Amino acid sequence: MGKILMLPGDGIGTEVMAEVRRIIDWYGTQRGFDVTIDEDLVGGCAYDEHGQAISDAAMEKAHQSDAVMLGAVGGPQWDGVAYDVRPEAGLLRLRGELGLFANLRPAICFAALADASSLKRDIIEGLDILIVRELTGGVYFGEPRGIEDLGDGQRRGVNTQVYETYEIERIARVAGDLAMKRDKRLASAEKRNVMESGLLWNEEVTRVIGNEFPELELEHVLADNCAMQLVRNPKQYDVLVTDNLFGDLLSDVAAMLTGSLGMLPSAALGAADSEGRSKAMYEPVHGSAPDIAGQGIANPIATIMSFAMALRYSFNRGQDADLLEAAVTHVLDKGIRCGDIMQPGMEKVGTVGMSDAILASLNELQEQYS
Ligand code: IPM
Ligand code: MG
Repeated sequence: MGKILMLPGDGIGTEVMAEVRRIIDWYGTQRGFDVTIDEDLVGGCAYDEHGQAISDAAMEKAHQSDAVMLGAVGGPQWDGVAYDVRPEAGLLRLRGELGLFANLRPAICFAALADASSLKRDIIEGLDILIVRELTGGVYFGEPRGIEDLGDGQRRGVNTQVYETYEIERIARVAGDLAMKRDKRLASAEKRNVMESGLLWNEEVTRVIGNEFPELELEHVLADNCAMQLVRNPKQYDVLVTDNLFGDLLSDVAAMLTGSLGMLPSAALGAADSEGRSKAMYEPVHGSAPDIAGQGIANPIATIMSFAMALRYSFNRGQDADLLEAAVTHVLDKGIRCGDIMQPGMEKVGTVGMSDAILASLNELQEQYS
């Protein structure tokens, strides 16, 4: 039996995760998906309870799980909290200690939502890119870091951008594998024009892809140019591999191309063990959205689609994942929308209404996926 740890976190995290639970229950009763679900705190709520953004006990549960489903962390009430215990530290500890170095962030534009994007329809219609973000290295984890008092009324803030060969190698391999299963095109973004770490990134990616994936078409792009290209002509990319910080920025850009941050799932995966299983955490790309928290209007689709990724990558249930993705598409095709993707003439629903509609579509479509 599989084990899922749910960490709903803060803000809308708790609301959207409650809907995922209903979807998991449906897979339990209808499709024989046998899992035990445990739940714990992460983020600001964990800080309030334990003085830490995630407790050791919750970390231990995460280590014992096949998949962690995370909602969102953070909120303005924790803005003044120190970095090592603030809500985001919980996320970083999970990523770091579980060794989740490969972050898969697909940006897919649903046909029904092409008009919800701030870009013209023809630029984003049919968009399907996959950002592969390095997640446990770079400036997020580099040492030294901190704020130093220079004693003369001046202070010095330091973070370190650092990558070693093995870190670039393993993320290049993940990206190469995925690109081979898709369009056999891989773009790699860095800033080799100003950063040594970018030059190393460029050289190691070139070497790994050249040696191990000779069939792939590899393109190198400077990260700032890449941001511009994503807005100008995003469909030129298929798989895009990049470091932790640039991946954070570029995935937000890519996300917005699709119409709404409320739609995009992500998976963070570790290295496979001897049995081929890897640690994994699934979370929506959006944040805790404190401005709409508690109102029952948050869009649960990104979190539900993250569960689809869990079905695919952690539970080896590709067909069940296809079914869930089809059910979401079906709901959108029917004109059902949450507020963030609302368009004229469509039916507006809240968080619960959206998952009701997805559950109805699951019932409708499930026979086609057996
Ligand atoms: C993300 C988020 C996180 C990050 C924050 C919440 C720490 O922006 O997952 O993209 O910067 O990685
Ligand atoms: Mg981000």
